[in-house]
Formats: sequence, structure tokens, C-alpha cells
Amino acid sequence: MLTVGLIVGSTRPNRFADTPVRWLVEGASARSDLRLSVLDLRDFALPFFNEPAPPGYTNGVYTDPKAEAWRKRIGELDAFIATVAEYNHGPTAVLKNAFDSAFLEWQRKPIAFVGYGGVGAARAIEALRGTAIELQMAPIRHEVNIAMEPYLGIVQAGRSLNDYDYLVRGRALMFDQLVWWGEALKAARQRTAAQSSVAA
Ligand SMILES: Cc1cc2nc3c(=O)[nH]c(=O)nc-3n(C[C@H](O)[C@H](O)[C@H](O)COP(=O)(O)O)c2cc1C
Repeated sequence: MLTVGLIVGSTRPNRFADTPVRWLVEGASARSDLRLSVLDLRDFALPFFNEPAPPGYTNGVYTDPKAEAWRKRIGELDAFIATVAEYNHGPTAVLKNAFDSAFLEWQRKPIAFVGYGGVGAARAIEALRGTAIELQMAPIRHEVNIAMEPYLGIVQAGRSLNDYDYLVRGRALMFDQLVWWGEALKAARQRTAAQSSVAA
């Protein structure tokens, strides 16, 4: 069973993020191949990165206890999904900061994105794909883009994400791909760990 962290990528009051979070939790609960845990950035209250040295120089250790708690939680998980809001054509500052607030714990793990907004947060997701690669993650191709029509349908016309078949299909494909990559990389990480403990 793959353990997946669902990172809630916006923290403002009245955020739309709660809608895709509920929908992803519901979709995940119908599957037996993954266990989803919600990582709400509101709960972690990470400070904006203010470390005296980059984590690459400290073996990934942070001086701030909140960043330490965050990175330890990230280290417990096999794969990630982030809900992505687009703020001025980029990701939210809090989400980018969450990536900067862990280091080794991201490595060799897959991540999928569920974006919403005018163009389904496609521009913000593209930016995050580069961030994920720099962190030695595997960003998976399948993403869910909740673009203007379903976004307004939900916010203004009382519709639900389940009213949009292509989004429901996209969610299933995204989960399928995340599990495939997650299991493959988990096995590879375990193999590497076993080899290095034999060599030690
Ligand atoms: C500061 C700010 C900037 C925004 N910029 C964009 C944008 O560049 N593209 C877009 O599609 N939507 C933009 N929006 C609209 C958001 O897509 C919409 O408000 C969305 O609900 C934000 O996510 P949240 O509700 O989870 O915070 C912006 C919203 C905010 C608050």
C-alpha cells in the first residue's frame, strides 16, 4: 500500500482548495492501492525560508523546528499530490516555500498535480515541475486541470467536480500513474538502501 501525501497548496480563508481536496480524498478512499493523508499547510505554519545555509550544505537539516517537523512528515511518505492554485501565473508562495522547507525527503519520489483556475493552473504546474525535478522527484505526466468552466460551475452554479466526467477520468488516470511510479520508486529506494547497508 502506497502512502501518499496530499499537500494543500493554498492557505487563505475561503480557499477553493478544499473542494479538490474533498474530491481527491473521496476518490482515494475507493482504492485499495494507496492511502492518502492530507498535509494542510495551514497546520504546519511554515516560516518563509530563513535558514543561514542552504539545505544542500547541511545534509538537509533545518534550524527551524517547524521546517524540521515538515520534512520529517515528508520523509514518512512514498508519493505526493499537490493542489495547485495559480497566483499571478505562478504557484502560491506558501506551496513553493513548502518545497524549499524539505530537501532529502523529496528525493526519488513521484508527485502529481491537481490545479484549478482560469487555465487549470497549467502555468503554475509547469513551474512546479521544474522545482520537483531539481529536488530529484519524478513529476508524473497526468495532471488534473480544473479550468474556468468547471471552476465557475462549482463556485457560481452549485455543481460538483463529479459532474465533469473528464475530470473523474483524469483523477483515476492520475492515481493509476502515481501508484505505478510510486511502487517502482519505492522498490528502487529499498534496493538502494539494502545495498548501502551491505556495503557499510
Ligand atoms: C493573488 C491572486 C492571484 C491570482 N492570479 C491568477 C492567475 O494568474 N491565473 C488564474 O487563473 N487565476 C488567478 N487567480 C484566481 C485564482 O485562480 C482563484 O482565486 C483560486 O480560487 C485561488 O485558489 P485558492 O482559492 O485555493 O486560494 C488569482 C487569485 C489570487 C488571490
